[in-house]
Amino acid sequence: MVAHAARLPIPLIVLALVAGCGTDPTPEPTPPDCVPSASVFKAVVQDHIDTHCGSCHGATPQFGAPNTLTGGYDSLIAGDEGERLIDRIAARMANKTMPPAGGEPVPHQVQDTVVEWASCGAKHPDHSIGLVVDRPVFSAPKSPPAGTETFDLKADQFAVAEDELDLYQCFTFEAPVKEDRFIQRIEAIIDDSRVVHHIVLLKDPKNAYALGLKKCKGMPADSQYLYAWAPGAAALQFPEGGARIKPGEHYIVQIHYNNGAGAKGVKDNSGIRVHHGPPKGTEYGMVAPGPLVFAIPPHSTFTATGHCKVKSDLTLLAGMPHMHENGTAFKQEIVRADGTREPLINLTGWSFEMQPFYHHPVTLKAGDRVETSCTWRNDTDDTVSMGTGTADEMCFNFMFVTPPPSEPYCNDFLLDPKAEAPYAPGTCAPTGASKTLPNHSQKLLFTGAPDIKGGDLGTARWELTGATLALPGLAKTYMNPDTSVVHSRGQAWSEGDTLTIDAAARILIELPNSQGIDSVDVLSVTGTVKPGKKAGEGTWEPSCGAKKPKNIRWTVDGDTLTVVLDKQFSQFTVPGIYTFKRAATDASK
Ligand code: HEC
Repeated sequence: MVAHAARLPIPLIVLALVAGCGTDPTPEPTPPDCVPSASVFKAVVQDHIDTHCGSCHGATPQFGAPNTLTGGYDSLIAGDEGERLIDRIAARMANKTMPPAGGEPVPHQVQDTVVEWASCGAKHPDHSIGLVVDRPVFSAPKSPPAGTETFDLKADQFAVAEDELDLYQCFTFEAPVKEDRFIQRIEAIIDDSRVVHHIVLLKDPKNAYALGLKKCKGMPADSQYLYAWAPGAAALQFPEGGARIKPGEHYIVQIHYNNGAGAKGVKDNSGIRVHHGPPKGTEYGMVAPGPLVFAIPPHSTFTATGHCKVKSDLTLLAGMPHMHENGTAFKQEIVRADGTREPLINLTGWSFEMQPFYHHPVTLKAGDRVETSCTWRNDTDDTVSMGTGTADEMCFNFMFVTPPPSEPYCNDFLLDPKAEAPYAPGTCAPTGASKTLPNHSQKLLFTGAPDIKGGDLGTARWELTGATLALPGLAKTYMNPDTSVVHSRGQAWSEGDTLTIDAAARILIELPNSQGIDSVDVLSVTGTVKPGKKAGEGTWEPSCGAKKPKNIRWTVDGDTLTVVLDKQFSQFTVPGIYTFKRAATDASK
């Protein structure tokens, strides 16, 4: 009996356990791996969702949107992980299928922040979506060349605060070499991938940047891009030889941090690893062709072109086309000495967040020319000029070439005898507007703007017969008045007090030292002309193509219409003069 009794408790315990499970039907729920930060939601994300999603996903969903996204934090995180609204938001914004195409574009910084917040830093938007390039990315073999040494240029426990968004941080180093070496391969070291957005390595040829840490939004002045990393980017490696690095030179690692996830206690050690060897084989250097002077008018699409004359034979290897956030397209062509053109690189669907080096090996001969064109869309009320700040614009291809060039930039003025204004009817032109209009050329004026008399605009269609800029007399001393020219094409329509001007001008200005300006100015605006105090002076209040009223002055003299509008020229506002003749066709066409 004793032995039997001793054996009894085991099955009893088992029975008790089974019974216990059976009576409790709700197992402990597994806590979600990612619970997005409520404080980041309150601080920024709520506002982003209201602004960019609220028009469709508001309290009452509109335009076919299946649900509301503005119901507050708790509604977004309710449900099972993977199925919650935040999980769907992260997925649709990371693959850029929301908001739907065609609407107001969402700034990349907003996309980054919302996706990182919703995925706790696990996901980043794919900024290569929409980018079309006709050259392959210049990517490296998996492993570095044999026999190289390495050094790292990286952050050292860099603290990224919980609420830090869109931080550009520069770390400046002195080249850690004791003698001249060749850089053979460059790759990124990614430590905390939740917060690191992209990393660039720049050379600071003038040692203009002090060693150490500094916030540095935009491009450090006078620097050159050597390498750029964004999620998914490969290393960069020279086929043989490399780029010289000398003792005492300064190099800048710029890291773009964005802590959209609100991660706490981040101490980042990301940066760049350089593989280097003795200075043997082909030596590469960098040159950046592109226009140096341009101004992009408000609410317009605008193209500037730079010409780089090749002075001695040169082999191109790879290049990093560079614009800022207004860029839409980038194009380079080689114009051989005999006039034949060859495409070098063509890029549409520009993304500021995705700027790798592309492979475009080609040999150039003295007398050839590299033509670099950038197109931007400026949706702001301000003119955007060339500059290193993120609100400014740039247009360069930072190219590795051999032999190393003596000058870091290359931009020569070129008076193309075939230059014309590129015209196509713009957004405010009536349907059926003529597409084939003659090109007109006019020199710059240094004698002030014409006298204004006013007059009745009436109902008419007007054809542009010339456009120019009235520059101050002093300007004559720093540009060539004989060669500088404005090409133009366009038309206008007047009816009552409504005036539409649809015109394009190509401004070619020769500056000293074979520098120059080659820029395209497109105007397509409809507005109401409100007369001011003086005859022929007033404001033009736009209903299409612009947001802010413009100052306008006009003279109607028989069949000639002269319109004067303020134009931004470099840092100055100068009169832009459009001359039209009354056209025979009826007013609507
Ligand atoms: C112009 C209207 C519009 C805007 C703006 C818009 N959406 Fe949508 N959204 C829709 C429509 C229509 C659908 C349904 C069709 C589809 O799924 O593509 C949808 C579907 C979705 C879905 C899938 C439905 C689900 O719950 O799985 C998500 C997620 C989403 N949107 C997120 C967003 C986010 C985030 C924003 C703002 C960044 C946004 N949407 C902005 C119209 C819009």
